[in-house]
Amino acid sequence: MSSQSSRSVYLDHAATTPMRPEAIAAMTDELARLGNPSSLHTAGRRARRVVEESREQLAEVFGARPSEVVFTSGGTEADNLAVKGLYWARRDRPDGSRRRVLTTAVEHHAVLDAVRWLEEAQGAEAVWLGVDTDGGVRPEALRAAISRAAGQVAVVSVMWANNEVGTIQPVSELAAVTHEYGIPFHTDAVQAAAQLPVDFTASGADALTITGHKLGGPVGVGALILARGTEPVPVLHGGGQERDIRSGTLDTPAIRAFAVAAAVCAQNLEDEAKRVTALRDDLVRQVLAVVPDAVLNGPPPGERRLPGNAHFSFPGCEGDALLMLLDANGIACSTGSACTAGVAEPSHVLLAMGADDSRARGSLRFSLGHTSTQEDVDALAAVIGEVVDRARRAAAR
Ligand SMILES: Cc1ncc(COP(=O)(O)O)c(C=O)c1O
Repeated sequence: MSSQSSRSVYLDHAATTPMRPEAIAAMTDELARLGNPSSLHTAGRRARRVVEESREQLAEVFGARPSEVVFTSGGTEADNLAVKGLYWARRDRPDGSRRRVLTTAVEHHAVLDAVRWLEEAQGAEAVWLGVDTDGGVRPEALRAAISRAAGQVAVVSVMWANNEVGTIQPVSELAAVTHEYGIPFHTDAVQAAAQLPVDFTASGADALTITGHKLGGPVGVGALILARGTEPVPVLHGGGQERDIRSGTLDTPAIRAFAVAAAVCAQNLEDEAKRVTALRDDLVRQVLAVVPDAVLNGPPPGERRLPGNAHFSFPGCEGDALLMLLDANGIACSTGSACTAGVAEPSHVLLAMGADDSRARGSLRFSLGHTSTQEDVDALAAVIGEVVDRARRAAAR
């Protein structure tokens, strides 16, 4: 095992994926131009045109109307706007209040912590839907949770696909259940949007989160797609941009690059999904061949799992030790969600799926994307056996 590999292997596309060349070109071109899209003069109107064309492009990719796309600074902001904004919008009514927020125990922290905050600071009552051992939410479980107090539920939020273990949720079935009770349904499609066909209208969701940097656009731009008539109370107040739902000067270069990246991504989504699935399946096969007692977390490779996701627990190891040993070999991966990396705590997703503390701690996520190659997979397979041995010896000390 070399301590410094000559090439770097990036297996952390779920944290952020390289920008597409077309998006870099669009962004750099736009950075050299001038204009606030809210200004009325020629430069402002030009920037406005770019923003509106980008909105149309994104709407087309994600099966929405342009007027339904609300730009934000990314997935975290869009999730906060959906969860807090819809809770505030529906909480109070003359004949009582709706204080319940239904969500799952496997959401990204952008939803999880927003719901916790509503509970601690805003008088909400969180209802955490359980998941099966693969991380899946069953529509019957949602129905049972809603029907206990349907009149008191303000909003339901269930992610389209899980960022740690790659579980794809039955989003349209879940949306249909919430609609039977007239409750708005939000879904965080940040991970799904890069790898699966995501059609907002067909999904039946009322609010859907996407972000630029998971699909080859820049960091710091995203959107909340909001069905007509779904009106969250704003989190940000100011200049009244984005129909007063999200104030703040629009970042024209980032928005243009986001739309270009989404369009490029959508162009060959199916072929790319097949290519990445084949690489991922080979990665799983090779890792299990070298480390037979490793456990693949999440659904079996197939329709219920994101194409680029492989997530393992390595018994007797600490995930952080594995990550650092792989990094020393030029291989980048993650112990789970990038946002919690660095904080040594077991994955809340694995715990919710019924894993014990040690299995949750000894886990690693390898995520593939548009720049992944067979060489990346082979490079991992060449070192993973020795890395696991070393991490086990370190943990046993
Ligand atoms: C499922 C999910 N939701 C939300 C986010 C946050 O998005 P952003 O980094 O654009 O704030 C992430 C990022 O890791 C994610 O994976």
